[in-house]
Amino acid sequence: CGIVGYIGDQQAESILLTGLKRLEYRGYDSAGLAIVGDDGLVVEKRKGKVDELRSAVNGQPLRGTLGVGHTRWATHGPPTDENAHPHTSVTGEFALVHNGIIENHGVIRQRLSEKGYTFESDTDTEVLVHLIDDIRAETDLSLEEAIRQALTQVVGTYGIAVVSSVNDKLIAARKGSPLILGIGDGEYFIGSDAAPLVEHTRQVVYLSDGEIVTVSRSGYEVKTVENVPLEKEVHELEWDLGEIEKSGYDHFMLKEIMEQPTSLSDSMRGRLLPEDPRVVLGGLHTVWDQLVDADRIIIAACGTSWHSALVGEYLIESFARIPVEVEYASEFRYRNPILRDGDVVVVISQSGETADTLAAVREARKKGVLCLGICNVVGSTIARETDAGVYLHAGPEIGVASTKAFTAQVTVLAMIALKLAENRTLSTGEMAHNLHALASIPDKVDEVLDMNDEIREMASVYRYASNFLYLGRGYNFPVALEGALKLKEISYIHAEGYPAAEMKHGPIALIDRFMPVVFIAMKDSTYDKVVSNIEEVVARDGSVIAITDEGNGELDKLCEYVLRIPKTEEFLSPLLTVVPLQLLSYHIAVMRGCHVDQPRNLAKSVTVE
Ligand code: G6P
Repeated sequence: CGIVGYIGDQQAESILLTGLKRLEYRGYDSAGLAIVGDDGLVVEKRKGKVDELRSAVNGQPLRGTLGVGHTRWATHGPPTDENAHPHTSVTGEFALVHNGIIENHGVIRQRLSEKGYTFESDTDTEVLVHLIDDIRAETDLSLEEAIRQALTQVVGTYGIAVVSSVNDKLIAARKGSPLILGIGDGEYFIGSDAAPLVEHTRQVVYLSDGEIVTVSRSGYEVKTVENVPLEKEVHELEWDLGEIEKSGYDHFMLKEIMEQPTSLSDSMRGRLLPEDPRVVLGGLHTVWDQLVDADRIIIAACGTSWHSALVGEYLIESFARIPVEVEYASEFRYRNPILRDGDVVVVISQSGETADTLAAVREARKKGVLCLGICNVVGSTIARETDAGVYLHAGPEIGVASTKAFTAQVTVLAMIALKLAENRTLSTGEMAHNLHALASIPDKVDEVLDMNDEIREMASVYRYASNFLYLGRGYNFPVALEGALKLKEISYIHAEGYPAAEMKHGPIALIDRFMPVVFIAMKDSTYDKVVSNIEEVVARDGSVIAITDEGNGELDKLCEYVLRIPKTEEFLSPLLTVVPLQLLSYHIAVMRGCHVDQPRNLAKSVTVE
């Protein structure tokens, strides 16, 4: 979900609506606003996207210079007008928006019901609102104090923002769900990420878990929920507005696919020195000796980041000869993992906010092992809670389906693997060769992107398929998984990725002429085996799309479509092979009329378990 808040001397409504639009990638099943003005507190909320909310308020602008807004990704209760945020107190004195989950909402709901409170929604959020109401009714605490007290009683996660007609303040607090305070000139902003803030200010304060901020027109005060005052550092935001706008593209996803040559160069800038030849990773400097000497590296992540972790496993094992295990962060945290001295945990997260991945960080740190982060969002919770790490520097990723973050993650993992190979498995000559190969990747991605029209045409042939199979081996097995994930996320076509040889153990039963099969068949150490798999599919009438190297005509007879991409080293091929798969799923989704940037039921950053 997304939160935006404003207090200052401008009209809040348009700032909040624009902010919500920028946050829509975080949740888009309902949206709402609460504004405090001359008429007191006014709330407008509804099921649907921010544009529907905007049309609703267009007729009757809400006037006032203090307000909060919310876009929702439903957890408790379906997306309905009632369940949309903000939720208002019984007295009508304040309105609250909430991200996260209040786990003990059942017990509190019951206690409050017994006291006569009635609930209009199914949300855990309304429970928090009435809890604050109740504390206000029973004590003479200020609203801020009552909120603080209520937060000490709830179990679970929250990022909340409250506005009230009684105290002319914006109050926000967080635990397990990100919140940023933006400091403008005589005005302040709250955001669940930087997207709604960048056009107004660069100065931000990142709230940490268990902190509450009270913002008035003249300043702000941060405390812990236990009432300890804090001095917070002010940071400078790195994002700029152009980066979070579509710049002429129809969708963020297409923009982000197309900008990969730049985002990859940005990920390598200052780090890749092919002439020396070496890799410089300043963020890992202090922990490097421990990483080099690791007995085992465990990489934990979710979704697309988990796929890049799998590529990382192949890279690090092959170059550094350190055993690597890849874990779903959600599984890792709950099974009391065995971590010993000499183990290093690495987490990968584009947003740096994914709840399960963050929990993996906390588990690792609790067990006393070194924990490193590979994140894109600077200042994100995971970036702050890990011992050290490497930023992707891929720029903001707004499309829900991750694209440029994946390639940047693989690039960072390749740099780590190559650096680990220094003085170990690679001679100086081999190192230089590999670094040059990595440095040439952005230009080669550019060449792959030139195939966009060809891929669009191919998409028009396959757009009605109900199932897809993606197969690859070695470094390209994770790419097969990622290709399938991209397609199902945004076009809702059922797709599975498999290691090509495993096809014989199940998926081959599904092959008929209605089952397109995408093979990643690069001319590498597994090529001949993959060609045998292609033949097996063709023998069963399957329709094959193959991705192979430039100049390879051998597959033309067997396959319906052959996409030829530039040659590179085997270990770098995922950076090229994934690109046509991103474009294929993008075009199919557009042709099927799907909401590419906001696929149903998904959210960009899942900050709940
Ligand atoms: C969500 C997104 C995916 C993403 C995953 C992990 O499911 O829709 O695109 O891969 O979260 O996100 P992270 O920010 O931790 O990389």
